[in-house]
Amino acid sequence: MTPRPEVRGATIVGTGMYVPERVLTNRDFEAMVDTSDEWILERTGIRERHIAAPDQASSDLALIASRRALAMAGLGPGDIDHIILATTTPDRILPSCACTLQHKLGASGAVAYDMVAACTGFIFGLGLGRSLVGSRTADTVLVVGVETLSRIVDYADRNTCVLFGDGAGAAVLRPCEPGLGILATRMHSDGELGDVLVVPAGGSARPASEQTVRAREHYIRMQGKKLFPFAVRSMEDSLRESLSEAGLTPADLDLMIPHQANMRIIDAVRDRLGVSRDRILVNIERYGNTSSASIPILLDEAVRAGRLKPGDVVGFSAFGGGVTWGSSVARWTSARVAPATSETSLGAAGAEAGVRRTA
Ligand code: ACO
Repeated sequence: MTPRPEVRGATIVGTGMYVPERVLTNRDFEAMVDTSDEWILERTGIRERHIAAPDQASSDLALIASRRALAMAGLGPGDIDHIILATTTPDRILPSCACTLQHKLGASGAVAYDMVAACTGFIFGLGLGRSLVGSRTADTVLVVGVETLSRIVDYADRNTCVLFGDGAGAAVLRPCEPGLGILATRMHSDGELGDVLVVPAGGSARPASEQTVRAREHYIRMQGKKLFPFAVRSMEDSLRESLSEAGLTPADLDLMIPHQANMRIIDAVRDRLGVSRDRILVNIERYGNTSSASIPILLDEAVRAGRLKPGDVVGFSAFGGGVTWGSSVARWTSARVAPATSETSLGAAGAEAGVRRTA
């Protein structure tokens, strides 16, 4: 009988992020819809968000974040076995955004595919990447979360347009000792609640037509009030599940990196978990909700600001359209923070600025 190969651990050895240079402030929205800086800040915690240039597609944002993550890991595109790219805003429906990224990166040996799980996409990618590394299917996995949500936001709808921004974040996974790196991941879906966050047209159920364009059906429609309590409950429950699987409790968290959808959601989750303000990271003020990119952007800022030390326990938690929700808990190992090269520092736009605490 062939001996069963031992399961390995998987850990993050490099992170990177990128946000486009153009910034849209709350004041800018006052000229577009019936809103105010005060309303947006009080109800969401957002001050500004970054918007992709007309010639920037999701794969372009992902490319810069991925190069930065690889540089930190001390690896090259030829080392990547799998590219898992989480997005709801691919460059095109076909080919996948991951394949486009693979080509632009020059990662010709990598298998590449998209993960469609809205804001939970990066967590799902981490979970899958961990399984691939753990089962020895892959040695090096690039997990990317990227969005150009500005392309599917209706800038005439004040209920949604103020919330979203564009950006990309990436992480490189490599094998490690069991008991280190990613300790647990939980992933959940409930399609019954699919209608709370939807882009009605453009797929096989309702293909693009003159009528769908006229009816603005290619934009995000959201029932924000319904999502709010679900978001709080699901992010809390899921993180508790991951912590419990790892034999830990919220008190063991050195750092929590939650999805950045709304400051009030983040505060409510923090309260329910009993996590102190200095142990939870927030950057929603500067980027808004970048969906699948929000957690890897925040993670990269934390790593570059020196907020994670080897041995620290870090928890991730997210929810999103689908609906989907999930979490992950990791015991941080180390990542080499290499200086940016000219290739990896395109339009940094202050991206490597420090991470703000909620306090
Ligand atoms: N400016 C001014 N007024 C506004 C705005 C705005 N930008 N947006 C909505 N309002 C109005 C509403 O029309 C409503 O007016 P009315 O009372 O006259 O009808 C009033 O403000 C209150 O609206 P509510 O929806 O009750 O506001 P709420 O406090 O719930 O905040 C929000 C709305 C921010 C959307 C909140 O519900 C939320 O964050 N929900 C979660 C949504 C979310 O996280 N979505 C992301 C999912 S992740 C993904 O997969 C992409």
